[in-house]
Amino acid sequence: MVESIPVITIDGPSGAGKGTVAQNLADQLGFHLLDSGAVYRAAALHALNCQANIDDEPSVMAALESMKASFQPHPDGVKVDLNGRDVTQQLRLETTASAASKVAVMPAVRASLLDEQRSFRTSPGLVADGRDMGTVVFPDATLKVFLSASVEVRALRRAKQLKDKGIETTMPNLLQEIGARDERDSSREHSPLVAAHDALIIDSSDLSIRAVVGRIVAALPMLTAVE
Ligand code: C5P
Repeated sequence: MVESIPVITIDGPSGAGKGTVAQNLADQLGFHLLDSGAVYRAAALHALNCQANIDDEPSVMAALESMKASFQPHPDGVKVDLNGRDVTQQLRLETTASAASKVAVMPAVRASLLDEQRSFRTSPGLVADGRDMGTVVFPDATLKVFLSASVEVRALRRAKQLKDKGIETTMPNLLQEIGARDERDSSREHSPLVAAHDALIIDSSDLSIRAVVGRIVAALPMLTAVE
């Protein structure tokens, strides 16, 4: 039964370190990884490629009918093919993230992406990162984590990440984009970014990735015992 397959959910705002923490944890436990942000980014990119109006739900939904995406594990995260084209790099652009946060407010879009996300729950287990993994997609998760950090720390981390990928940006732009995205993600009506009532809350502003992973593993006595 799929419900018996363990899931660890890591939700939080962009730049809190969810992706790196999730990848480390998945590697350590030998679990699969779901980067749900990549699913929303792919949907937004496909809508843009189809010339859909990114602010209009019916227009985006019509475009999504022709979306064929595959998400493959990759040492740097996830490799994404969209209708036969490798869009891994394009997916990481802040402009794609911003479009993703626009389509992510649409309930029909969120509902249409649920099955895709839940299909990642396969044996021996899953680490899922996003905004509503513990609240909506996997409400029965084994452990729910809410990872946050100050907006300045998150912008600095995102700048470094983008630089490592050869993508140039400026701090004022990044602070503005992250602030706008936080606001959209937290204030939307459907599946807003909130900590699940039963989540373990970690502020990663002054913690290394290793320290965060350590705290999560420490909260998982049963799973670490079967490692
Ligand atoms: O996590 P990432 O920055 O890749 O996500 C891009 C955008 O996709 C987020 O700003 C958010 O609007 C949306 N998203 C979401 N629910 C998720 C994952 C991402 O709404 N579970």
